Amino acid sequence: MAKKIAIAIDGPAGAGKSTIARRLAAELGYCYVDTGAIYRTVAYFLDLLGISPKDADGVARYLDELTVSITYDEEGKQHMIMNGMDVTEDIRTQEISQKASLVSANPLVREMLLDLQRDMAKEYNVIMDGRDIGTVVLPRAKVKIFLTASPEVRAKRRTAELEAKGQTANYEKVLKEIQQRDYQDSHRAIAPLKQAKDAVKVDTSELDIDGVVATIRKIVEGKIGQ
Ligand code: DC
Repeated sequence: MAKKIAIAIDGPAGAGKSTIARRLAAELGYCYVDTGAIYRTVAYFLDLLGISPKDADGVARYLDELTVSITYDEEGKQHMIMNGMDVTEDIRTQEISQKASLVSANPLVREMLLDLQRDMAKEYNVIMDGRDIGTVVLPRAKVKIFLTASPEVRAKRRTAELEAKGQTANYEKVLKEIQQRDYQDSHRAIAPLKQAKDAVKVDTSELDIDGVVATIRKIVEGKIGQ
């Protein structure tokens, strides 16, 4: 099997990673892997069982009973399968965002999810987004992007996104949650959110989606010549 190409996009919540990665994957014919969805699935599973994401003993006790897998539909949309159940939509709430951030600090959880992510990159050319893709999951990725934006801009975007989905969203509350998640994700002991040494930083605060896609395409073309 020919060696596959990996593009890693890391960054804080709401920087636009998934929108950009999805667009780029479609343009380049790569497989888009949203790794945040995997952590969300674990958080959702524990939530259903009433286990707190901070309860390390509880998490350790039930983790063996969870099987997580990723499938894609005909449109290329990623689906998360939790013990055979499609939970793709269920994991997209603010509550699960917070719980995913908390449970992602658990070393057992991170360890359990590593192979799933690496196997995807072995099988397909991937654009994988997350927090530790360029630093831990795929340290040898051909292209590494660190996508960021000010917390205020990210909160504004996230609020609009939630409203568009018909969920109630309050900007101040979303901003607080984003700041809290930034703190948790970048201060945990294992695989914290940080820019890889060889990643290119792209600040999307002042750019629209087309602008970001064009910027990243240039970086990708410079590194892999597509
Ligand atoms: O990208 P997201 O908002 O769906 O991610 C949800 C949480 O999962 C995030 O707050 C931290 C965690 N996460 C992680 O620790 N490592 C990743 N590669 C992706 C997400």
